[in-house]
Amino acid sequence: MPFEVLQKRQLSEAVFEMTVAAPAVAAKVRPGQFLMLRVDEHGERIPLTFSDWDAEQGWVRFIFMVVGKTTHALSHREAGETIADLVGPLGKPTRVEGLGRCVVVGGGVGAAVAYPVARAMAEAGNEVTVILGARTADLLVLADEFEKLPISELIVATDDGSEGRKGLVTEPLKELCDAGVVDHAMAIGPAIMMKFCAATTRPYGVPTVVSLNPIMVDGTGMCGACRVSVGGETKFGCVDGPDFDGHLVDFEELMSRQRIYADEEREADAAYRQECSCRTK
Ligand SMILES: Cc1cc2nc3c(=O)[nH]c(=O)nc-3n(C[C@H](O)[C@H](O)[C@H](O)COP(=O)(O)OP(=O)(O)OC[C@H]3O[C@@H](n4cnc5c(N)ncnc54)[C@H](O)[C@@H]3O)c2cc1C
Ligand code: FES
Repeated sequence: MPFEVLQKRQLSEAVFEMTVAAPAVAAKVRPGQFLMLRVDEHGERIPLTFSDWDAEQGWVRFIFMVVGKTTHALSHREAGETIADLVGPLGKPTRVEGLGRCVVVGGGVGAAVAYPVARAMAEAGNEVTVILGARTADLLVLADEFEKLPISELIVATDDGSEGRKGLVTEPLKELCDAGVVDHAMAIGPAIMMKFCAATTRPYGVPTVVSLNPIMVDGTGMCGACRVSVGGETKFGCVDGPDFDGHLVDFEELMSRQRIYADEEREADAAYRQECSCRTK
């Protein structure tokens, strides 16, 4: 059954927000969970995380960066058109209760995932600080929405200093750990960023959860594509995660498995771009 696109908004050159009618899915979503979608019946399934949803109105929203063929094709779907299928909610929800003083780090498009998590942590009575990072001001995602949340502080960091402080998200994270005001950390973003956030909090013994993004095919624990090593054990990102203890994740293995199909992805993207005359990316 196709799913109607209700709204599409371009947030930056390569980042889009899409709202889709999916009442049965919206009724069950919890923060940190994801969906699998296919743009059309010939396409591959890709995982995207819910950035918002409304159970009463029956819609779900996600934010995605155009990085290859499927996200490129998705960016062309307009309000009133449909996507072939959307399955979810998948994965275990993020733990948000009884955490105390939390720091949520959202890097790049990972901020879209961090948004409902930070909101739920604040609503659950935790004291929440959000660190939002991006390479430049143009690539910051949802900064205005984070400002409206009932959180203690929003710290913005860009690599080039075009917005907020200049530098990496790990710097304010370390300062907060030094000040002894962090009971729990959560990092969501590129694998390399999560790896360094976990390395930053490790010496302080601050429990640190990361939301992993291995390649997924079915999203239901059957194919093994999303295999990750955590504390020497094999886990499946889709059903055991996507959240894991950042101090136990084998990030080198994760990053090398993320690149397994790089050649095929490049070819598929190049072929799609030849067909498509748009200027995205
Ligand atoms: C649980 C989870 C949640 C995610 N949430 C978001 C999100 O909210 N917003 C967002 O922009 N991105 C998210 N991603 C990443 C997103 O799924 C990929 O960017 C997308 O699949 C790329 O497909 P493509 O064909 O456009 O690019 P491709 O050219 O096929 O791939 C580009 C890169 O994306 C990754 N990728 C490719 N296929 C998959 C796949 N089937 N599963 C996972 N990663 C893949 C690989 O690292 C690859 O190198 C999430 C990934 C996971 C696992
Ligand atoms: S995506 Fe197939 S087992 Fe997780």
